[in-house]
Amino acid sequence: MIWRQRPLRTVHLLALALCVSAGGDFDWTKQEKTSFYYGTFPTGFSWGVGSSAYQTEGAWNTDGKGMSIWDVFAHKKGKISSNETGDSSCEGYYKFKDDINLMKEMKLNHYRFSISWPRILPSGSKSKNKREHINEKGIRYYNDLINMLLDNKITPVVTLYHWDLPQVLQEKHGGWQNASMVSYFNDFASLCFERFGNRVKHWITFNNPWSIAVEGYETGEHAPGLKLRGSGAYKAAHHIIKAHAKVWHTYDTKWRSKQKGLIGISLTADWGEPVDVSNQRDIEAAERYIHFYLGWFASPLFHGDYPQVMKEYIGRKSGQQGLGASRLPVFSPQEKSYIRGTVDFLGLGHYTTRYVTQKNYPSGFGDSYFADRDLAELVDPQWPDPGSEWLYSVPWGFRRLLNFVKTQYGNPMMYVTENGVSEKRLCTDLCDDWRMQYLREYINEMLKAVKDGVNVKGYTAWSLLDSFEWDEGFSERFGLYFVDFSNKNKPRYPKASVQFYKRIISSNGFPNQREVESWKRKAVETCSSSNQLLAAGQSGDAEGCVWFVADPLIGHMEMVTEIVVPTVCTLCILLSAVFFMFLLRRRL
Ligand code: BGC
Repeated sequence: MIWRQRPLRTVHLLALALCVSAGGDFDWTKQEKTSFYYGTFPTGFSWGVGSSAYQTEGAWNTDGKGMSIWDVFAHKKGKISSNETGDSSCEGYYKFKDDINLMKEMKLNHYRFSISWPRILPSGSKSKNKREHINEKGIRYYNDLINMLLDNKITPVVTLYHWDLPQVLQEKHGGWQNASMVSYFNDFASLCFERFGNRVKHWITFNNPWSIAVEGYETGEHAPGLKLRGSGAYKAAHHIIKAHAKVWHTYDTKWRSKQKGLIGISLTADWGEPVDVSNQRDIEAAERYIHFYLGWFASPLFHGDYPQVMKEYIGRKSGQQGLGASRLPVFSPQEKSYIRGTVDFLGLGHYTTRYVTQKNYPSGFGDSYFADRDLAELVDPQWPDPGSEWLYSVPWGFRRLLNFVKTQYGNPMMYVTENGVSEKRLCTDLCDDWRMQYLREYINEMLKAVKDGVNVKGYTAWSLLDSFEWDEGFSERFGLYFVDFSNKNKPRYPKASVQFYKRIISSNGFPNQREVESWKRKAVETCSSSNQLLAAGQSGDAEGCVWFVADPLIGHMEMVTEIVVPTVCTLCILLSAVFFMFLLRRRL
């Protein structure tokens, strides 16, 4: 699971009532939250799929690879659902040729994958002593992958850091808590530019630094599993931002003129919508939500410093806690100008939306990134929620987020680097109606954003394959391809969404109603036979899957279980207490 703060379930119905009555949206979305827009993307728009090293490669201790923090974390009991690990995962290390054939089939323009740092630098760094060497077998693996992609006219989009820090750097220095990571990361990135940069022209320094910081150093749900509440995440983020900037400058001064590539970063964020758009406090709370999420990283990179609202809130709370300085670190003037402008393109990962309302956290609450924001997150029970607990399908939020980036950061060149939806592990139905619907609607909102003038150049569906979903193990499936993890050969089976996405790609969007409406039907024709194949190959029983959209009855049931039942119980307890006291007094 990618951890998101659990929304307040008992009050979310209230939120729904408020938002239904709320008026005054942004002009550009009025009447259009649910309408479908037929049209196509600009010529040259790039379509791709994504993956990451630890989630798919397996081969965790093969061919000289060193340990990463995820290898170590996943091997500790109780950290991952069912104590699963990425030791073998999809065996992508051995099956990349098959996977490229799948991509070729889909006629993809690009493939986003990440390089495992400890696979090419087993001890994290190079050349300080003999043990610190370059693992040529790891280099060969990525060379083969890149070469085969290019042979098939698929552009490699390479992430340098998708969360798998070499364990040695964690043990010796405390990982991203330590400023020395900046130069270690720069050395690793330089090695990648040196060895692969003649062929790779799109580099992403970090994937979702919000997760690295918050889940790795605040909640501890991700590797390295530290719970340094209220300060660890801010410190980690500070070093990550500096590391990104350093790598951008290294590329700019040393490699750009020869290699002519681009350096970006992939930031992930939900959209935050005010619960009541006529309430100024909710509007500000929703803005804070996004600034603490996306702005935390985007603002230094585009404007040279943290968002004003983060500085104010964290500074004030630190003062109330009697601290001499803010828990949010400070950039020096030189650092600010060094960091500002270090993005050639912005990668954006997006999955879901929250309603947001103002909520004060008292100063005695304790240090916490979440309390610093003074807000509460809510969801609408009508939002479809097929897989991961945190992932509700709210397509219109995507367009709003894209427009937010346009207005806040000067409409940078943007690639959507992640977007997709999951289902539960037991769901073995390859006719993934929910994913087709999600892709159709989210990509359509992106199309509307392009028409709004947002500078999006490409889209990456997350993910090519079902894979290791971090602390959720294999219990959530994001893949366009189903992977049978119970079979040691890890066979891949296409879900219906493969056909559906393929049609979006070949039409470069949604040409007209008649055609688009036929896509789902055609995609479903092939998935039934794949279902049979899968059932024949699988030992267990195939389970049905649910595309959950609350109908009025379910909504009513939720209200009964979440509001009526607790209220009635509380009243019963109170009445019994009064009655008991009354009896006692009569006996005395
Ligand atoms: C991460 C992916 C993950 C996805 C879904 C993203 O932010 O980068 O690795 O699979 O969220 O949880």
